[in-house]
Amino acid sequence: MSTDYSIVKAETPEQIQDCYAVRINVFVHEQNIPLDLEIDEYDPKCYHWLATAANSTQRRSRLPLGTIRLYHVPNTSIGKLGRLAVDLSARGLGLGRKLVEALEKDALTLGITFIDCHSQIDKRPFYEKLGYHVIDGNIFVEDGIDHIKMGKSLS
Ligand SMILES: CC(C)(COP(=O)(O)OP(=O)(O)OC[C@H]1O[C@@H](n2cnc3c(N)ncnc32)[C@H](O)[C@@H]1OP(=O)(O)O)[C@@H](O)C(=O)NCCC(=O)NCCS
Repeated sequence: MSTDYSIVKAETPEQIQDCYAVRINVFVHEQNIPLDLEIDEYDPKCYHWLATAANSTQRRSRLPLGTIRLYHVPNTSIGKLGRLAVDLSARGLGLGRKLVEALEKDALTLGITFIDCHSQIDKRPFYEKLGYHVIDGNIFVEDGIDHIKMGKSLS
């Protein structure tokens, strides 16, 4: 596996498609979430980030390995973090953390001061390491998976 990773804000249609491709691999194929729930009506209204690595077989293309999205709730200083996914082949390398950090940095420039997140219950320790706290302890089911509400103040 390459160590030449980068994270960019996804701005071209190709980059957005690469974000969706990572999500489909992780959420649809690995976690069995139906495709029609995975790509939703919020996607066109969200900011997306893409993590890639150098492709050793095709030098001019890069391998999409991770993604995250941010929805800025209109007329508020609240942003919703979602659809964080790192390809199984690239977990534990710090890409999940770097994607959250990239989102938070840009969120601040948008005037967002609070990040809200629905964490899959077993990902709670990951978010806690990044400074997120449980907002309320109620466990709820989203896309067939147990979740908990977490958040982080950026200011
Ligand atoms: C959750 C996920 C994004 C983490 O990505 P990652 O790139 O493997 O995470 P990182 O390597 O950046 O980990 C950062 C820290 O969190 C820890 N961590 C990562 N996943 C964890 C988990 N599931 N439980 C507890 N800690 C975890 C790491 O050990 C690391 O700790 P350290 O800084 O002390 O070394 C990834 O496992 C994933 O895509 N899972 C499937 C999709 C998913 O569940 N998304 C979240 C939906 S809420």
